[in-house]
Amino acid sequence: MKHIGAGIAIAGIGSATGNLIVDNHLLSQIVETNDEWISTRTGIKERRLVNSDGCADLAVSSLAEIAAQAAQAALAMAEISATDVDLIILTTSTPDDLFGSACQIQALIGAKGAVAFDLTAACSGFVFGLVTAAQFIRTGVYRNVLLIGADILSRWVDWSDRSTCVLFGDGAGAVVLQANSVDRLLGFELRSDGSQNNCLNLAYKSQPKSLVKDIAVGSGGYQSITMNGREVYRFAVAKVPEVIEKALYRANLLTEDVDWLLLHQANQRIMDAVAQRLKLPPEKIISNLAKYGNTSAASIPLALDEAVRAGKIQSGDIIATSGFGAGLTWGAAILRWGK
Ligand code: UT7
Repeated sequence: MKHIGAGIAIAGIGSATGNLIVDNHLLSQIVETNDEWISTRTGIKERRLVNSDGCADLAVSSLAEIAAQAAQAALAMAEISATDVDLIILTTSTPDDLFGSACQIQALIGAKGAVAFDLTAACSGFVFGLVTAAQFIRTGVYRNVLLIGADILSRWVDWSDRSTCVLFGDGAGAVVLQANSVDRLLGFELRSDGSQNNCLNLAYKSQPKSLVKDIAVGSGGYQSITMNGREVYRFAVAKVPEVIEKALYRANLLTEDVDWLLLHQANQRIMDAVAQRLKLPPEKIISNLAKYGNTSAASIPLALDEAVRAGKIQSGDIIATSGFGAGLTWGAAILRWGK
C-alpha cells in the first residue's frame, strides 16, 4: 500500500545497555586518572560496558543482542510485531560483523519481512538514520521502520589511553518510525566535513602481505580509537548551535519554542555551552551522560527513551536533537513528540 506524502512519527522507543557498571574510581585503577578530573571535565560518573568475561558465546556479549533488546522494547511500545517491520536501519560503528549487523538483528527479533542494512555516521548515526528512514516513509515506500543506534565502543578503546578510555560506554537505543497523518519531523539539517577527518578515527592500518613477487595485499587490522579532544570540542560547540538553528528555521520555529535540547551525550560542558549559545535554560537539557558516558550512535535514543519513560517528555513537546562526531559529521532534527 502506498502512502505518498505521509508524515512520520515515533510510535515506540526502547533501549538497552551493557550490564557491567564501571565507575570513575574503578577506572583510576586502570589508568592515571581520578573521579574529580573525569567529573569536572566531562560530567561522566560511570558507564555500562558489555561484559565479555567468560563469554565464549557471542550472543550474550554482542552488539546484535543489545540492539535486539532495545528493538523489542520499541516494538512493544509501538504495539506492533516484528513481522510488521518493513525496514531495519542499524546505525553503528561497531558491528559484530564488518559486512553489517542489521540482518543479524532482523533474525534475532524475527522481522522476516523487513529489509535490513547498516548505516555508519559515528555519533551522528542516529540523526542521519532518522532522516534516512523519513525519506522511505515520506515517499510512501515503507510504513514501519525500525531505527536502531547501537555501539560497543569498549571493544575499540585503548585501555591505556586515559584521554579516551574514560569517555565511552556501550549501549543501544531503538525507535519505531511510522507513517502518520501528521508530520512530527518538523525540520532537519545534515553536514559533513571530511577535511577534519583526522580528529577522530577508528582506522584500518594496512600491513602488506606478499602473495607472490611484486604483489602484496593489505592484511592489517583496525586500530584503537584516537581523538584530538580539544579540536572535536571546539568543533561541537561552534557547529551544533548553527545546525540546530538551521533545522529550526526549516521547521519554522524559534529557539524559544524548544522544550527539550537533546544532544549527543559526549560531554556535559558541550551540552551546557550549546544551550548557552542558543539561550536555552539548563533545565531544558536532557542529560544522562553521568550514568552511561558517551555511547556514540546509541546516546540520543538512550537518553530519549529514559526521558519519555520518566514522563519528562510529553506529547506535543518540541525536541531539538543533534548528533556530532567522527567524519566529521553533524546534524540536527526537530521533532514534535507524540503521534
Ligand atoms: O562522541 C564524539 C565526540 N567527541 C567529543 O565530543 C569529545 C570532545 N572533547 C572533549 O570532550 C574534551 O576535549 C575531553 C573530555 C576529551 C578532554 O577535556 P579537555 O578539557 O579538552 O582536556 P585536554 O585534552 O586539554 O587535557 C587537559 C589535561 C592534559 O594534561 P596537561 O597536558 O594539561 O598536563 C591531559 O593529559 O588533562 C590531562 N588528561 C587527564 N587527566 C586525568 C587527559 N585525560 C585525563 C584523564 N585524567 N582521564
